[in-house]
Amino acid sequence: MKIIAVKNYEEMSSTACNLLIEKINQVDYPVLGLATGSTPEGLYQLLIEKFNNNEVSFKNVKSFNLDEYVGLKKDNPNSYYYYMNNNFFHLIDIPDRNINIPNGLAKNLQKECEEYEEKIKQANNIDVQILGIGLNGHIGFNEPGTSFASVTQVVDLNNTTIESNSRFFKSIDEVPRQAISMGISTIMQSKEAILLVTGKNKAEILSKFIKEEPTEDLPASILKNHENLTIIADEDALSKFNND
Ligand code: GLP
Repeated sequence: MKIIAVKNYEEMSSTACNLLIEKINQVDYPVLGLATGSTPEGLYQLLIEKFNNNEVSFKNVKSFNLDEYVGLKKDNPNSYYYYMNNNFFHLIDIPDRNINIPNGLAKNLQKECEEYEEKIKQANNIDVQILGIGLNGHIGFNEPGTSFASVTQVVDLNNTTIESNSRFFKSIDEVPRQAISMGISTIMQSKEAILLVTGKNKAEILSKFIKEEPTEDLPASILKNHENLTIIADEDALSKFNND
């Protein structure tokens, strides 16, 4: 595990952007694992800028998103489908056929999960997985208590997550109670993982993460066993760990 301590959000985003571009330019057909949430928005903006400056192309990139809410239509601004198109995909040259996001509207959600997992295997696993961390230590939507052996599955969101994500919705009642999420073992099979952590509200969970042994109570903690994990964390996110 490598920790890159950076000053602020901008530096976190640019450091991640440089690592990702390096990988994209190194590998012939890169497979990226992508995250949503506020954390990677700056990263996507920078990648778009680099694309506009002809410093990177996504023509040969295949992507797999970590998760999607169950029951939100694609044109719902809170769906991760909408988020990814709006913040990233429609502003770069990635071919539509290379984009994979779990379908939270599938009639048979179980089948959707199995097929998603299979597609990742067929792609020979993810080269670089971008991750954020939830206030309760979740990765993707794998809430505390999720088995480290889990594969892509339908998950129930817990109250911390529903409350935290309600900031994007008109009211807390509109936040879906379920999602499809890549499993923890799926995430662990990625060849490289980059965890982005920013802000004072993540200081507590990041400090726990760094100090504690892997435990299913803190899903992200399994990443400490990942063969190639880089954490990029800003001063605010590291403030608790540095002061303990
Ligand atoms: C969300 C997503 C995660 C994300 C996390 C943190 O619920 N499912 O993939 O990493 O919570 O979100 P944020 O970056 O907005 O703090």
